[in-house]
Amino acid sequence: MLVSIEHQLSQLFADAFESLELPRELGNVQRSNRPDLGHYQCNGAMAAAKLGAGNPFVTAEKVVAALSDNSLIEKLDVVRPGFINVFVNAESLAQTLESYGSDETFGSYEDKSDCKVMIDFGGPNVAKSMHVGHLRTAIIGDSLQRIFRFKGYQVVSDAHLGDWGTQMGMLIEGLKKRQTDLVYFDADFSGPYPEESPVTIQDLEEIYPQESGLCKSDEAVAEKARQATLELQNGRAGYRALWKHFVDVSVATLKRDYGELGVSFDLWKGESDADPFIAKVIQQLEDKGLAVRDQGALIVPFKDDQDEAIMPPLILRKSDGAVMYGTTDLATLYERVYNDHANLVLYVVDGRQQQHFKQVFAAADLMGMNANTAYEHTYFGTVNGKDGKPFKTRSGGVMKLHDLIQMAKEEARKKLAASNFGTEFDEDEKEEIAHKVAISTLKFADLRNFRIKDYIFDLEKFSEFEGKTGPYLLMQVARIKSILRKAEEAGAKPGELMPTSENEYDLTFGLLDFPVALDKTVDKRAPHYLCEHLYNLAQQFSSFYQKQHIMNEPDKARQASLLRLSQICLAQLEMGLNLLGIETLERM
Ligand code: ARG
Repeated sequence: MLVSIEHQLSQLFADAFESLELPRELGNVQRSNRPDLGHYQCNGAMAAAKLGAGNPFVTAEKVVAALSDNSLIEKLDVVRPGFINVFVNAESLAQTLESYGSDETFGSYEDKSDCKVMIDFGGPNVAKSMHVGHLRTAIIGDSLQRIFRFKGYQVVSDAHLGDWGTQMGMLIEGLKKRQTDLVYFDADFSGPYPEESPVTIQDLEEIYPQESGLCKSDEAVAEKARQATLELQNGRAGYRALWKHFVDVSVATLKRDYGELGVSFDLWKGESDADPFIAKVIQQLEDKGLAVRDQGALIVPFKDDQDEAIMPPLILRKSDGAVMYGTTDLATLYERVYNDHANLVLYVVDGRQQQHFKQVFAAADLMGMNANTAYEHTYFGTVNGKDGKPFKTRSGGVMKLHDLIQMAKEEARKKLAASNFGTEFDEDEKEEIAHKVAISTLKFADLRNFRIKDYIFDLEKFSEFEGKTGPYLLMQVARIKSILRKAEEAGAKPGELMPTSENEYDLTFGLLDFPVALDKTVDKRAPHYLCEHLYNLAQQFSSFYQKQHIMNEPDKARQASLLRLSQICLAQLEMGLNLLGIETLERM
């Protein structure tokens, strides 16, 4: 990690305070909120007064006098009651920006490879196509995995497929009704089972809703599905073989959908992979007296000192012996803690599952899993329609993710056709542009909000080329690329930085804020800080570009500096968008 200007200044000021026998912390320097009065400010003299150091103005003057020689500070002003305003020297500023600008991570990388972060996101379910609810976890989770990796952590992402619940039993029973003669159903058959799947994804997507509907209205059907699930979990060979096909055909389709979004996972494990750990976890909970029988079921109750229930118990086994969503999650966490040795596990899952994770984590705490591992529910809010209710299709059905992407593409095509951007593109290029614009639209609209907030899905607004949108940022990137291309054609090259005007300073300070925005994003697991930063940067570039007539600049050295500044800005925008999972375009 490169040393920021704030940090260098803070060290100088801390030394000065210390030489006056005052605490070093008072030397903390921040960006000024009044750029006309200074680039940075130190307010330590006022804090010193509270510690009994006397008149803050006098202290501030003493601090200024005690500052050691340096090349960073151009000018200092002491202002009543005791502010110290700092102007930094243009040359040092240029050097700092150059050292950041020529660094691959813009000074952000720290070696955190000894910290293993497992990110559980996506969470798609076998036989169910992904819907709008799966959009947020995919977008936020993917952005977090990119950011944590970029920052230097060891990251492992896992799709944690929903492949072990009652829907599996429903599929088995549903299929039985269609194809009675499959060897998979024969309890005495010892294999080998056919390699080819007896079902396609279309079959599964038909069977699941049918059977699930029947289960709701007919208790006998539901009982059969539960029984089949239990037998599957207990290892009935034909059911396992069939289940494997269900998983495989689903995963193939899911990979296609995630591919379309540009989202990938290191691991494609599922709830079923927790199976080998379930017995161990239950044994430990029973041995420690943490799991108890309750009306035939096995549960972990959560009680306070007065023996009052503080939340509903975690159900480990139902009375028929089947395990639940909470059981597989607890066993998966066990695997992540003791087998994978994760230091941090992030669950990027809908906020409506908060209770579930509270229960799972509370049980894990009771088992002592939190000794070397932290686990967090990195939850997010709901995508609502304009009526304020969870987003649906026009006919009131669930909105499939694939259809949503198509809608966004359609909107992108419309907007691109209406805009006066772009020269002549052939059909393939148009398609690529529409695709990237659509993905940027969906991703930026999602990530720009603090993740725990709900937001209203308004495709038209999200697709605008103006305002805080993905397409706006893509357009700024394409514009800078075009400026640099034109300059190159004219033989003008980027060169040494030497900021002079106010908007160059603004842009420089804006660029230098990148590591700060990134650290906030990591700390809060909240990419909206990065979105905000990139949007501000794009705007700063816009006003810089309006004021500086780069191509007509007669002074070649100055032109070279302006081009270098543009180049660094472009690199940072592309780097930042990439961290959001957004691919940029050369032209649009
Ligand atoms: N499959 C679940 C769902 O669709 C989400 C899984 C989230 N991850 C987890 N470890 N529970 O609701």
